[in-house]
Amino acid sequence: MKAAVTTQAGEPKVIQIQDKPIPSLKDGWVLIKVKAFGLNRSEMFTRQGHSPDVQFPRIQGIECVGEIEKDSSGTYKKGQKVAALMGGMGRNFDGGYAEYAAIPLTIIFPFESDLPWATLGAIPEMFQTVSGSLNQALEVQKGETLLIRGGTSSIGMLACQLAKHYGLTVIATTRNADKEQHLKDNGADHVLIDDGEVSSKLKAIFPDGVDKVLELIGIASLKDSLKCIRPKGTVCMTGILGGKWTMKEFTPMGDIPSMGRLTVYMGEAGNLDKALLQDFIDAVANGSINIVIDKVFKLDDIVQAHTYMESNQSKGKLVVEI
Ligand SMILES: NC(=O)c1ccc[n+]([C@@H]2O[C@H](COP(=O)([O-])OP(=O)(O)OC[C@H]3O[C@@H](n4cnc5c(N)ncnc54)[C@H](OP(=O)(O)O)[C@@H]3O)[C@@H](O)[C@H]2O)c1
Repeated sequence: MKAAVTTQAGEPKVIQIQDKPIPSLKDGWVLIKVKAFGLNRSEMFTRQGHSPDVQFPRIQGIECVGEIEKDSSGTYKKGQKVAALMGGMGRNFDGGYAEYAAIPLTIIFPFESDLPWATLGAIPEMFQTVSGSLNQALEVQKGETLLIRGGTSSIGMLACQLAKHYGLTVIATTRNADKEQHLKDNGADHVLIDDGEVSSKLKAIFPDGVDKVLELIGIASLKDSLKCIRPKGTVCMTGILGGKWTMKEFTPMGDIPSMGRLTVYMGEAGNLDKALLQDFIDAVANGSINIVIDKVFKLDDIVQAHTYMESNQSKGKLVVEI
């Protein structure tokens, strides 16, 4: 089979297209004929060498969609459409950047859909992250206000659509004023330009603060995001787009407003419900959710795809179709 192998930590060119044997199966594993996969920033960090537990060479890819090629457990029939994500995929064992992937049954999610593979490829990890952050970590409710910090990211764009679907008022941020209309077209009720501080601009619209904040920039803007919540409001840090992993000075009684809540979301396959995924795929198929895909690449163009992801130019999900 053809596979994109990350040969060592480094620049995008460390990923090489190679011929590899089709993986053999262990008990409790299935073979997927991969049709598409979404690109994820965590894969970029891993490729850059920021995942000490990942050994190279490695076929990366923490998610994929495709068809069952072989399942000796008899759980799934050949040709059944499935998604797979997380659980060490593309990190502790070879993942989705290949024509075939051997995947444990525990992280397989069957679905029915006639959507194009490129659209389906954008969904699993993005949906798991957004749904888990909004429903499980932030416990959003109809009628609430939600600030999405890092609104133009693919996670941010989908979070806005899902939050609107649930009946929330959404305020989305970008550093780039040229993307304001793009955010409004995606459903945002208000757009704030993020120059590192948005709390005063937000308080000019919502003097008491917002109910919930989805923090996708991370440490770099966390203290300012905590200033945006109303009493008993919640900030959930799900992303780290700002690239800073630790905070040197943090004063809980001071940085967290009185009775404010701070949480994080680090989703796993176990956080995704099979029925919820099918409902979401159906919502995409009937047009009530619009998956924003910026570019679709071929497997041969994986170096170009990683270079593009690193350039921060994308305005939506990046997908590779096989
Ligand atoms: N916790 C989890 O389970 C989980 C799962 C998946 C992803 N994530 C995280 O979620 C975040 C979003 O991922 P994604 O794939 O949706 O991202 P993405 O689509 O690649 O995001 C790109 C956008 O991020 C913004 N950005 C980039 N660098 C930035 C910086 N230094 N400061 C502020 N904004 C910056 C830019 O927006 P503007 O130029 O418009 O400002 C850019 O358009 C990532 O941190 C990712 O690691 C977490």
